[in-house]
Amino acid sequence: MEKIIQIEPWIDNSELKQLSRLIDSTYVTENALTKEFEEKTANLTKSPFAISVCNGTAGLFCALKALNLSAGDQVIVPNITFIASATAVILAGLDVVLVDVDPHTACINKNSLKNAINEKTKVIMPVHLYGISCEMDDIIAIAKENNISIVEDASQGVGVFYNNKHVGLFGDFGVLSYYGNKTITTGEGGVVLTKEKELKDKIYMLKNHGRMNKGTFIHETLGWNFSFTEMQAAIGISQMNKLPTIINKKLDLYRRYSNKLKSKNIQMKKVPASTSSAVHWFSNVICEDAENLQNFLKSFGIPSRRIFYPLNKQPCLINHKNVLFSSKYFSYSERAYKSILSLPSSILMKKEQFDFIVEKLNKY
Ligand SMILES: Cc1ncc(COP(=O)(O)O)c(C=O)c1O
Repeated sequence: MEKIIQIEPWIDNSELKQLSRLIDSTYVTENALTKEFEEKTANLTKSPFAISVCNGTAGLFCALKALNLSAGDQVIVPNITFIASATAVILAGLDVVLVDVDPHTACINKNSLKNAINEKTKVIMPVHLYGISCEMDDIIAIAKENNISIVEDASQGVGVFYNNKHVGLFGDFGVLSYYGNKTITTGEGGVVLTKEKELKDKIYMLKNHGRMNKGTFIHETLGWNFSFTEMQAAIGISQMNKLPTIINKKLDLYRRYSNKLKSKNIQMKKVPASTSSAVHWFSNVICEDAENLQNFLKSFGIPSRRIFYPLNKQPCLINHKNVLFSSKYFSYSERAYKSILSLPSSILMKKEQFDFIVEKLNKY
């Protein structure tokens, strides 16, 4: 049996075909393919604007910068997320306020969020984790009531719909990531979604050295270079074409795990009803002790992945002057970290590999 892979992109001749368009055109920096890729992202999400950036982290940074905030302004971030949600805030010169997560979804907790709001709170950053959506109705109500912006970290959210609307469209900005392990990939890459032209222009200026056009050398504002490339776009166009198939295969894998799992000690992680279309980017399970289950699987050569380490325990954040803790205790984060494990989730997994994994899981 071949080595089992935790997660991998589906790359084949279709990407090569799109890349040959780039070779024919000889353009390597942002051009027609990038536009086409942005249009495909806009079509999928129904976002009026989709601006490509070099990665999701840069997209979050640009979104925060575009809100014209000042030092000391606070951005509320859930305690379970990839570090980039927090580092983008710090990089933008703002303060991170960590709040606990929901025990069922591991997404931002409504009550912890409410309790953390004060006069310095300027942004809520919901993070849509593992192909499910945060409870956006609650978050929008809280944001409206307190006149706070929303920047959605939808890095893991491509293809995910909340009450039939794609994630990333509920606030001022939403950011998708196309990193190598995501549902679809451009290697590195991201897209900022926004509904307003003025905000779209701001993002474009920020990613393009503070100007609206390339090839001119008068810069209205300070900007950075977070450009996309035609190589990324070519791969992205092909990946976008494959997205419906990938989502179906991910769902099929999740369902097969659900049907075959018989161990009383492991349950599949459920999708909340408000996520009208989930993407089973990873097939996640809940157990008593994820570390123990991970070691058990490892002893048979089966890879798995723990969820993100709670931010309130991250060595780089504990004593950082721009990181504030809304509470002494993050008990739901602790519980989520201890109990959730991502099973091998490659859509290229062979039947014999799947059967082997399930046989071992059922012995746990
Ligand atoms: C929740 C979350 N936020 C932010 C990022 C950062 O995205 P990128 O790697 O494209 O910079 C990622 C993924 O990598 C992520 O999963």
